[in-house]
Amino acid sequence: MATSLAHAGVVTGKNAAMSPPLHMATTYTRPADGSYQEGDLIYTRMDNPTRNLLEAETGRLECHGRAVNSDTPIISCAFASGMMAVSSIVLAHRLPLKVLLPVDAYHGVPTVLRDVFSRFDVEIRTVEMSDPAAIEADLAKISVKDDVIVWMESPSNPRVDIIDISLISSIAEKSGRRVTTVVDSTLAPPTIQQPLQLGADLVMHSATKYLGGHSDLLCGVVTASPWTNRGRFIGPLIRQVQVAVGGVASPLDSWLTLRGLRTLAIRSSRQCETALLLVKYLQHHPLVDKVYYPGLEEHFGHKIAKRQMKNGFGGVFSVEMIGESYAFAFAAALTVVQRATSLGGTETLIEHRASIEPPGRVVSPRGLLRVSVGLEHASDILSDFESAMDIVQTIHGIRG
Ligand SMILES: Cc1ncc(COP(=O)(O)O)c(C=O)c1O
Repeated sequence: MATSLAHAGVVTGKNAAMSPPLHMATTYTRPADGSYQEGDLIYTRMDNPTRNLLEAETGRLECHGRAVNSDTPIISCAFASGMMAVSSIVLAHRLPLKVLLPVDAYHGVPTVLRDVFSRFDVEIRTVEMSDPAAIEADLAKISVKDDVIVWMESPSNPRVDIIDISLISSIAEKSGRRVTTVVDSTLAPPTIQQPLQLGADLVMHSATKYLGGHSDLLCGVVTASPWTNRGRFIGPLIRQVQVAVGGVASPLDSWLTLRGLRTLAIRSSRQCETALLLVKYLQHHPLVDKVYYPGLEEHFGHKIAKRQMKNGFGGVFSVEMIGESYAFAFAAALTVVQRATSLGGTETLIEHRASIEPPGRVVSPRGLLRVSVGLEHASDILSDFESAMDIVQTIHGIRG
């Protein structure tokens, strides 16, 4: 995959461009007889050559390593943001729709479901996904006529919870309900995790994060499984939503995402290595209550993560300080690490989550800080952490 990523978007052949062209045109001429030939471009909401290249690449990446029947197209759709990708999945379903959500998920997902989609007949239910019996029981309560989405986010943002994707996908399939299993795999790009190969029907990414990788674009991607019946059914409906509703990835953002993909393998392996080093330092620090990272043996999802992730456990972790004031003081004392939202870029970012979550819907512990590890030298981040901890200890009069 690393080799194929290094050539992302490049179409080889005679005199080939080693960087894909950026097609900004919105419209294309129509032949004199008024007819379009197979493969002709019409209008950029339907087809844009740069976006099409990105979609071909993301489809290939999710399926890399497992054979796909040559008569089954891989459907991958790029949207203007991760949230548009989430919304396209909802819009591809019929009403009434039930959405089963995990306890920890990126707050934008429950927010769009509760604030926007609840105007329609969309109902959300929070389920403890580490409890297979609870999911079976919940699915059994849903009418066989209703559409259902089982939404997984693994690792989750911000608590990096791990969900057993194969297990939940097989429970959903056996339930006899009209279920689509979806994995938001934003925190684990395809170099680390390929949810469709674990049995999920759809995988989505906020490509704004690791796929783009440079904190300079907004994009979301949904890819449908060519291996499951539900994936083959829902994939064309996602494409229909994309073309009809719009919200497509812009040519420039598609181009930037392709550019980012070229270094994804090397970025993510470095970020995983540095993340592990940092959590090992934080784990035993007296100002730390808890470190959340699936790469730690103590993490409740470590065994599952080892089975379903490869090449590391991701570049995001969370650290819960012994109190909120300690969390703010630690973040404030950092100089290399930057205080900002988002993740997946080349720069290490830290964020106090509870204060960014919508008022009244705060789910993160008050002392929790989320860290997205960048590409700085690991020892520079580590010494930034050490000096910040020293400053916090001095402020609070604690001896190290
Ligand atoms: C896990 C996850 N899913 C979806 C999104 C939404 O993506 P976007 O900001 O590109 O709309 C985010 C954004 O932070 C995220 O972290």
